[in-house]
Amino acid sequence: MTMNSPILFQITQDGLETGLRGMPIGYCTTSHVDPMAGLHYRGHPISHFISAKPEEVLYMLFTQGGRVKMGLADFVKEMRRRAGLSPQTVASVMALPRSGHPMALYSAAVLLLGMHEGQGDLMEDALNLIAKIPDLTALVINYHAHGEGIVPSDEKMGYVERFCHLLTLDPQVNRSAFGEVMRLFYILHEDHGGGNLSTFVGKAVASGREDIYGSIAAALLALAGPRHGRANQECLEFTQQLLAELGENATMAQVEEALEQKIAQNKVIFGFGHAVLRAEDSRATILFDLLEKEYGEHPIAKMALLLRKAGTAVLKRNPKIQNPYPNVDAASGPLLVAAGYPYSEYYTLLFGFSRISGITSQIVYETLFARGGKGVPIYRPEYLYID
Ligand code: MLT
Repeated sequence: MTMNSPILFQITQDGLETGLRGMPIGYCTTSHVDPMAGLHYRGHPISHFISAKPEEVLYMLFTQGGRVKMGLADFVKEMRRRAGLSPQTVASVMALPRSGHPMALYSAAVLLLGMHEGQGDLMEDALNLIAKIPDLTALVINYHAHGEGIVPSDEKMGYVERFCHLLTLDPQVNRSAFGEVMRLFYILHEDHGGGNLSTFVGKAVASGREDIYGSIAAALLALAGPRHGRANQECLEFTQQLLAELGENATMAQVEEALEQKIAQNKVIFGFGHAVLRAEDSRATILFDLLEKEYGEHPIAKMALLLRKAGTAVLKRNPKIQNPYPNVDAASGPLLVAAGYPYSEYYTLLFGFSRISGITSQIVYETLFARGGKGVPIYRPEYLYID
C-alpha cells in the first residue's frame, strides 16, 4: 500500500458476509450505477442511448474512451468479418444434451467456441467472441428449443438485427416489433458497472489469466442464478401467475392485496429491489414507458404496469425494505411477451448475449490497460478464519 493513499472505504465486522457490498475493488471504464439516477455508460445516463444503434454502444464500451484504438467504421467492419461459426463449433454445440436450463448449454457452447476457434490472444479472442456471439446465442436457443441450427445471414445486417434473423421464431411473431424490443433490450443490458455478479466473476476468472472464453463461460454461470440474470424469467412467471389469479381487469387494490398475502406467506415479490439502486431502475423506466406506449392494452402489460405501482406501495409499508422500487426484470419480460417472444426460458440468454459485451470490455481493461498496462493481479481477497 502506498503511503498517503486516500481511504475510500472502511470495513467493520458487520460488513463481513455481505457479498462485498459497496466495497471498492478497482476501476470500471465502461459504466457506473448511481443509486438514484441508475445506469450510466461512459458518464452519460442510459436514457441518452435509447435511439442508438447497438453497434455504436458496443463500440463505445469496447473501445473505452480510446484505450482500444479503432474507429467506429473499422469496428463495424471487423464485427462483420469475424461473424459466423465454424462447422466444428456448430457440430459440437449440436452434440450437447438439450436437457436442463439453456444457460448451462450456453456456457458450454462458449467453451466449445474457444476450443475450436480460440486464437490464444486476448484482443483477437475478445473481438471474435463479440462478433460471433449473435450466431452462437441463436444457435443455442434454436438447438435447445427445436433441435435446429442457424440459417445463413446477410453480411449487411446490423448486429442485433442479425441475431433476430438467426433466431427461429413462430411465423406469427411480428419480427419488426420483436427486433425493435431486442435492440433496446440489448443496449440496456450490455453493462451495469463493475460489481454485478457475472461481471465480477468473469473478471476474477480472467485475473488468473484464463482466456476470454473460459472467463465468459464462468460469467454466464454466475448470470444463470435466479438472484441475478435468471430473475428476468422468474419475474415474468410471477407476473403471469398474478395475471392468471386476478385476470386482466384486476384493480390496484386487488394486486396490492395479493402481494400482501404473498408477503404474509414469506413468498418473494419478484422484480423489486436492487443491491445498489435506491430508486426505480432507469432501465425499467425506459422499458415500462415503451410497454405502456406500444402495448398498453396487452394483458401482461396491464398487469406489469399495475404491479409496478402496487409492488412499490406494498413494499414501502415495510420499513426493512431499502429499495421498494422495480428493477429492469419487472419490465423486460412483459415487454418481450407483448412484442411476441413469450419463451421465458431463454430470457436469461438474451441478457447474457447483451452482457457479454460489457464483461469482455471490462476484462480487456483489467488485463491490458489497468495499472499502467501491467493488468490487475490474480484476485485474492481474504476470509477470516472462524471455528
Ligand atoms: C445487473 O444488471 O447486473 C443487475 O441489475 C445486478 C447488479 O447490478 O448487481
